[in-house]
Amino acid sequence: MISMPQLKQDKVYIAPSILSADLTCLGNQVKLVEEAKADWLHIDIMDGHFVPNLSFGPAIVKNLDKMVKIPQDVHLMVQEPQKFIDPFVKAGASALTIHAEARGNIRETLKQIKKAGLWCGLSIKPDTNAATLVPYLDILDLILVMSVYPGFGGQEFLPKSTEQINQVAKLAKDHNILVEVDGGINRQTAKIARKAGAQALVAGAAIFGQPDIKQALADIRNAALAQ
Ligand code: DX5
Ligand code: ZN
Repeated sequence: MISMPQLKQDKVYIAPSILSADLTCLGNQVKLVEEAKADWLHIDIMDGHFVPNLSFGPAIVKNLDKMVKIPQDVHLMVQEPQKFIDPFVKAGASALTIHAEARGNIRETLKQIKKAGLWCGLSIKPDTNAATLVPYLDILDLILVMSVYPGFGGQEFLPKSTEQINQVAKLAKDHNILVEVDGGINRQTAKIARKAGAQALVAGAAIFGQPDIKQALADIRNAALAQ
């Protein structure tokens, strides 16, 4: 397991989502984003219940852990996250993010993640009130704001997300919590999300879906940093 980095205030963190990678050559694709200085990999886990789609299991994290030197930020879009904490810890995840809308005891699940020495994250869907996060601010390292309805890559950034990011950034500010935004991030929306208070940006289609993956990553980072 590779630990998440010590955060720097002025940096913007770029997390390519392998959901949009060419899985016939995942190893090569991941090497490309590593060379392009991706900060961590974003791994989307879907169970077909919490979201209407299926994706990967712990084996993908275990395999990537053998070959990448950057952290793995695992996003659990699953109905019962507590069942899956141990397998993903064992597989080598660096950060584990669960959903506030999931079943079970959210605080206990977050504690379990923290106890294992991982960054613990909580995500909210576009229609979930930012205030839902308040009871967990003391324990969180990361808040993942969904700027699309979760389940699929390649969707468009929802304009109403800007306000939600703003609200979350205000909550996160005094608690040293990283605000990460996920869904529809490209050169234009990277700027919008950053301005609204995001410090980390997940991008799938806008990186792995592009002919020049390295350039696409650099373009998003530069756009986010531009004033
Ligand atoms: C969506 C996933 C996202 C997705 C982002 O449910 O959580 O991480 O891969 O993909 P893009 O950047 O293509 O919207
Ligand atoms: Zn995600």
